[in-house]
Amino acid sequence: MTWSTLPAQLFYFTLTLLATLSASTEEDWKPARATYYASYDPLDRVDGACGYGDLGRNGYGMATVGASQALFERGKVCGACFQVRCVEELRYCIPGTTIVVTVTDFCPPNYSLSSEEDGYCNPPNHHLLMPIAAFEKIAIWKAGNMAVEYRRVKCRREGGVRFAIDGHGVFISVLISNVAGAGDVNAVKIKGSNTGWLPMGRNWGQNWHVNADLVNQPLSFEVTTSDSVTLTSYNVAPKEWRFGVSYTATKQFQDQ
Ligand SMILES: *[C@@H]1O[C@H](CO)[C@@H](O)[C@H](O)[C@H]1NC(C)=O
Repeated sequence: MTWSTLPAQLFYFTLTLLATLSASTEEDWKPARATYYASYDPLDRVDGACGYGDLGRNGYGMATVGASQALFERGKVCGACFQVRCVEELRYCIPGTTIVVTVTDFCPPNYSLSSEEDGYCNPPNHHLLMPIAAFEKIAIWKAGNMAVEYRRVKCRREGGVRFAIDGHGVFISVLISNVAGAGDVNAVKIKGSNTGWLPMGRNWGQNWHVNADLVNQPLSFEVTTSDSVTLTSYNVAPKEWRFGVSYTATKQFQDQ
C-alpha cells in the first residue's frame, strides 16, 4: 500500500489549487496543475492509501487520481470525484475534453524538496497525480506538468455499493467502494440481526472497522457520504458471510 510500490518512471505533476474542497454540486472551476505516472495496465496499480486495492475490480479503472496532503484530508476525500480539464497551454490540450477521476490515492510530500520546485505534493500545494491513461484524455503526454482546472462533481457508478469484509474473530474491517453521489464516505454503521446499529471507525482511507461478534448474522450497513446523504442497505451480507469476501448492495446513492 505504500507509495514506494509505484513504478520508478513516475512523473509528478503539480496542482496548485487555491480553494478548498466541499461536497457541493455546483462548484466553480478552480485552477490547478497536473501530471501523470506511466501505467497502462489496470493491474499495474498503486495499492493506495485509500485501501481500494484492485482499482479495476473495485469499479474505478484508470480514471483515478492521487491527491496531495493538502487535499487528501487523511483519507476522508477517498472516493470523491473531480472533473478535470486542461487550460492555458493550448498546444497541449485536447480541446473540449474533460475527464472525471476518483480520488483513490495519496501523493505524499517529500520535505527534502521545495514545495515551489520539485516538491509538488508538499503543503500548501494542492496537487493531483493521474495515470497516463487518464491524463491523455485531456492533454497530450508532452504536456508533462500541466495547468488544469478542476471541480468537485457527483460520482457515477455501475451497480451497488461494495463491502469487502476482512479481519478475524471480533475484529471486522470493511472496505467500502463503488460509492456514487458524493463518493466520499464519512460515517458508517453496521448491524447484525442480533444487534443494534454499531458505529464503525475509519481505519485508513475507506476501510472501516468495528469490534463486535457478528458471525452467523446477516449484515446491514448504513453509509453516510460527505453531503450527509445516508444509504441504508439491509442484509447486504447473508448469515453465512465470510472474511475475505466482497458483498454488493442492491442499492446505490442516486446520481444527481
Ligand atoms: C525525496 O527527495 C530526495 C531528493 O530528490 C530523494 O533523494 C528522495 O529519494 C526522495 N524521497 C522519497 C521518499 O521519494
